Amino acid sequence: MCGIIGYVGTEAAVPLLLAGLQRLEYRGYDSAGIAVLENGKMAVFRRAGKVEELAREIGRETIDACVGIGHTRWATHGAPTEENAHPHLDCNGKIAVVHNGIIENFRALKERLAAAGHVFRSQTDTETLAHLIEEHNRGDILAAVRLAVSEAEGAYALAVLSEDDPERIIVARKGSPLVLGKGKTGSFVCSDIPAILGNASDVLFLAEGEVAEVRSTGFRVFSRDGEEREPKIRPVTIDPFSIQKGGYKHFMAKEIHEQPRAVGETIRERIHPDGVGFPELGFLGDQSTEAGFARVYLVACGTAYHAAMTAEYQWETLLGLPVQAVIASEFRHRDIPVDPRTLVIAVSQSGETIDTLVATRRAKAGGAKVVALVNTVNSALERESDAAVYTRAGIEVGVAATKTFTAQLAALSLLGLCLARAWGKILPQDMAERIAPFELLPARIATVLGLEKQVVQLAEKFYTASDFLFLARGSLYPIALEGALKLKEISYIHAEGYPAGEMKHGPIALIDERMPVVVLATKRSAYNKTLSNIEEVRARNGIVIAITDHPDDEAILRLSNHIIPIPDSEEIVIPVLYTIPLQLLAYHVAVLRGTDVDQPRNLAKTVTVE
Ligand code: F6R
Repeated sequence: MCGIIGYVGTEAAVPLLLAGLQRLEYRGYDSAGIAVLENGKMAVFRRAGKVEELAREIGRETIDACVGIGHTRWATHGAPTEENAHPHLDCNGKIAVVHNGIIENFRALKERLAAAGHVFRSQTDTETLAHLIEEHNRGDILAAVRLAVSEAEGAYALAVLSEDDPERIIVARKGSPLVLGKGKTGSFVCSDIPAILGNASDVLFLAEGEVAEVRSTGFRVFSRDGEEREPKIRPVTIDPFSIQKGGYKHFMAKEIHEQPRAVGETIRERIHPDGVGFPELGFLGDQSTEAGFARVYLVACGTAYHAAMTAEYQWETLLGLPVQAVIASEFRHRDIPVDPRTLVIAVSQSGETIDTLVATRRAKAGGAKVVALVNTVNSALERESDAAVYTRAGIEVGVAATKTFTAQLAALSLLGLCLARAWGKILPQDMAERIAPFELLPARIATVLGLEKQVVQLAEKFYTASDFLFLARGSLYPIALEGALKLKEISYIHAEGYPAGEMKHGPIALIDERMPVVVLATKRSAYNKTLSNIEEVRARNGIVIAITDHPDDEAILRLSNHIIPIPDSEEIVIPVLYTIPLQLLAYHVAVLRGTDVDQPRNLAKTVTVE
């Protein structure tokens, strides 16, 4: 995790570095720091806590510097203290390093360097790199970085600033992302484009193993072996509005309300009057289930895993072959059968989640075909997969995933239909009817968003609860899990999602008059059985909050304490619609509890550690 920024040019560096770090906080916010060359001398400022703490401290000083690097951290090696905050320095305090990733052989390197007289001041793996660069430095900092990274095992994106070489920042990457940017007043380096949006007009994505020098006037890029490469520069096409709150109090609120558009954009490029198109996956259509794929796995983490689970329920019906969603961090450690007749769909908003990447590698090693379903273009997951399908949700800044989740749900449902058609499981004449609900989906999401006031009233009633239960059946069960996850993440309330029928096998013991139980009750599937589960909750004095597409039904009216009505829709799209009130509930409960909604404690949006 962690975010990196660097600037060299003619403007004051500090405000650019701090603004960039603030936009990278979704990658971690345990501690932050910058190193700048002030009148040619290295000056380092670091702080435990968020970037605004650092900015407050620096605010008291006037710093005359046009070159610098910065970092916002999510602690892995060493506690989130000031001494472990980046940048880290060599023994002489002349070389500063910021790093995203993990140097796996840092203990061995540290022992060697300490034996050679280097003095360490932190517990981080990153400080080893500063000393290793110092050890290799014979006056050319670019050469020293190249030699240092050739000894480093693991993942890194790093930026290095040297007092003896003040005109350039040296950068290198392997496994972690790094983007170089060119603007009117100078050049940038960063972990992700939002950090430099509005300041850089052109960017270059550094490739695996590359090392580069970043000067005010531009970049030079080198391969691992020192061979110079033609820089592949492209214009920035992202709208700067996407990283502003646009009048909302939090990014999460904005992103929840963007869902009609996020889902609409994702769907729009896929559906046409008589079918669903995924032209990037042409090769999958040739493989009928008999001669081709024998099984499908969907691998993912967290919220993306809930999208994968929903697809498991939908695809096993559509495709008629074994489909299994597997938590990515478990996939590599299990002896799950993988062979050339295996199709793996890796679902990830960021495309950087290391657990999902590792699962993908294990699948590929077994001969599987891997398709990445990602929201971020040009991610590591995309590069390591046979093909990539994008969700078009736009940049998501809030740490808790919202619009990317519903975009994943919609994309996976359509992909399921596409495969079912290609493999002869759906007749061509039936496709139009299958697709129709997707055309109506953005408007229906907007209708559900219109229920926000009712959800606020619920939040006001229950925000002091210490526990919540979420129950559902079938393809809404993963949505119950997602509702519980959202609430846990941002409100810190203990919440659990259960298949409604499973409640009587244990969780029912938790129910008393203080327990709000959110039940997703669709008339499309097992409605009467879900009603029985509601009866069981009421019999134990639990409080039932029913979310239902059958709100006029006498039984649910009688049994529920509160009802949120959902527009009646075809089964394939209801997971999207039932998600919306759960996101709104989590959001408003968190706001009422006064938590840091966009940057909840201990979390980072992009998890690049196993
Ligand atoms: C929850 C959340 C996380 C991510 C998970 C996977 O709100 O955002 O659970 O879903 O870390 O991240 P990606 O999708 O980037 O692979």
